[in-house]
Amino acid sequence: MFMKTDDICKEILVSEEEIIAAAKRVGEQITKDYAGETITIVGLLTGCVPFLCELIKHIDLKVEVEFMRASSYHGTIKSSNEVKILKDLETSIKDKHVIVVDDIIDTGLTLKCIVEMLKLKGCKSIESCVMLNKKAQRVNDYEPKYFGIAIPNKFVVGYGLDYNELYRNLPYVGVVKDEIANGGN
Ligand code: IMP
Ligand code: MG
Repeated sequence: MFMKTDDICKEILVSEEEIIAAAKRVGEQITKDYAGETITIVGLLTGCVPFLCELIKHIDLKVEVEFMRASSYHGTIKSSNEVKILKDLETSIKDKHVIVVDDIIDTGLTLKCIVEMLKLKGCKSIESCVMLNKKAQRVNDYEPKYFGIAIPNKFVVGYGLDYNELYRNLPYVGVVKDEIANGGN
């Protein structure tokens, strides 16, 4: 069922139930993989927030949560090669087991760049975890170790994903109507 304020989606691609099930599966996998360790989740603002909240409930470890803000899309749909750090970490990740969490991997530019930058800060290990994996447009060989759901090459919103900073609050992932995704407004 669409939300009343949803005037952008033509169909629901991933339901809330599917996202919660994926977060549970990935959270349980992380719990197994890091048994006995303390981990640091680094969320990429703002898109990571709803999925991160769901994910950490299913990680039965000692967990620190930190945030960064990077920008590669600058409010539009097209990706650019440049990743800007708009908000950096506030605590040290030296000697920590880090997992970077984001809403989606698309070209892979953002996540690869952030992971490379965080490696330089001397963490003990670093992996990444995304809610959605859009493989069709990948421009590099980067693959996140953990992902919730693989999706086709469609522009989507909801559950953290935005169109011009809106629609992050939709409790599902929906496909944006063609006339909007193709540049209309
Ligand atoms: P990448 O660097 O191309 O992998 O892009 C990652 C970022 O692009 C994500 O964190 C999102 O902010 C944004 N993005 C990629 N695909 C979509 C989409 O379908 N809807 C909304 N944002 C997207
Ligand atoms: Mg993002």
